[in-house]
Amino acid sequence: MISKHRCISWLYFMAGIVVGFCAIFHFCRNIFIYTAEKPAALLLWKKAGSRPKLHLLNGSELHDKDHLSIDLSRKVRVLCWIMTAPDSLDTKTIHVKYSWTQHCNIALFMSSVTNESFPTIGLGTKEGRDQLYWKTIRAFQYIHKHYYEKADWFFKADDDTYVVVENLRWMLSNYTPDQPVYFGKRFKPFAKQGYMSGGAGYVLSKEALNRFVEGFQKENCTHTTSTEDLALGQCMEKMGVIAGDSRDTEQRETFHPFTPDYHITGRFDKSFWYWKYAYYPIVEGPQCCSDLAISFHYVEPELMHTLEYFTHHLRPYGYQYRYQPPLPENAKRLPAHD
Ligand SMILES: *[C@@H]1O[C@H](CO)[C@@H](O)[C@H](O)[C@H]1NC(C)=O
Ligand SMILES: *[C@@H]1O[C@H](CO)[C@@H](O)[C@H](O)[C@H]1NC(C)=O
Ligand SMILES: *[C@@H]1O[C@H](CO)[C@@H](O)[C@H](O)[C@H]1NC(C)=O
Repeated sequence: MISKHRCISWLYFMAGIVVGFCAIFHFCRNIFIYTAEKPAALLLWKKAGSRPKLHLLNGSELHDKDHLSIDLSRKVRVLCWIMTAPDSLDTKTIHVKYSWTQHCNIALFMSSVTNESFPTIGLGTKEGRDQLYWKTIRAFQYIHKHYYEKADWFFKADDDTYVVVENLRWMLSNYTPDQPVYFGKRFKPFAKQGYMSGGAGYVLSKEALNRFVEGFQKENCTHTTSTEDLALGQCMEKMGVIAGDSRDTEQRETFHPFTPDYHITGRFDKSFWYWKYAYYPIVEGPQCCSDLAISFHYVEPELMHTLEYFTHHLRPYGYQYRYQPPLPENAKRLPAHD
């Protein structure tokens, strides 16, 4: 008995050392990596004078194929809204502001309180995870009231989502804003038609926005759970908004709930919840992701800028148009806005 007892004490002692060591290691790692390495690069982005300006091509600089993305931005107008919080503005959200959101027709940053210098829109909610669905409800109501005529599609992202807006427009150009439909990374459980994962972002057609707002006016939908993405999906289903299929013409996914490396080189453990959640079969390895991928999640501030470079600047010379399916026939019929 005594030796067993001692053995257990010994185990506790060793476990204590291991936990202590890990805590110290984590602590030191944070100090060194976060104060020495990370900001060195990121401070550059924060200095007011050196914020990267998006170089929008003007008429004389346009290449033939660039006209496609510019034309499309007039036909498929995307309002992006970013769910954020006061504490994240200077550390995370600023990098979203100066990377991919520059490609949206309109970008709005939604927070609990207004900050006129960033700027953020104050939704009058509290802060915290349990407030996520309230923020989403209020944000869509605000957008419905103030921006209804200014866009055709309404995209919600987190402040750690990276989005290739041009590819989103290509996928959406197959549809019209008056169709009751929404798209994202489709999950299977808890709703007949599934629901769209929150982190990878999701996009509502104008009609879907209408029905969502109406659902709360007429009390068909209520704040059932703070699990924002699921709650929204259940309201969509109730209001007859279809959960769309956003895969490309080769059935590869476009919305991704993790970082690119995770999808491209990672192997998901068989017990990982993702297997049960994914609506379409999971593909591991390079075929995981469409060449016209739309979004990735859990993207750190550094990676925002890296992805911006990879998607909008870096090109293998003479190799640009490997997978460029044509514009859908439907795109030709969409009206263009100024
Ligand atoms: C377009 O950009 C080029 C090069 O940056 C510049 O020289 C030209 O003046 C610009 N044209 C217009 C119409 O702004
Ligand atoms: C408002 O946003 C700026 C960043 O643009 C930030 O530095 C400032 O602290 C914010 N103000 C408040 C009251 O949160
Ligand atoms: C929403 O509620 C109203 C009033 O209760 C009802 O008339 C309507 O049919 C409901 N709509 C849907 C889509 O369930």
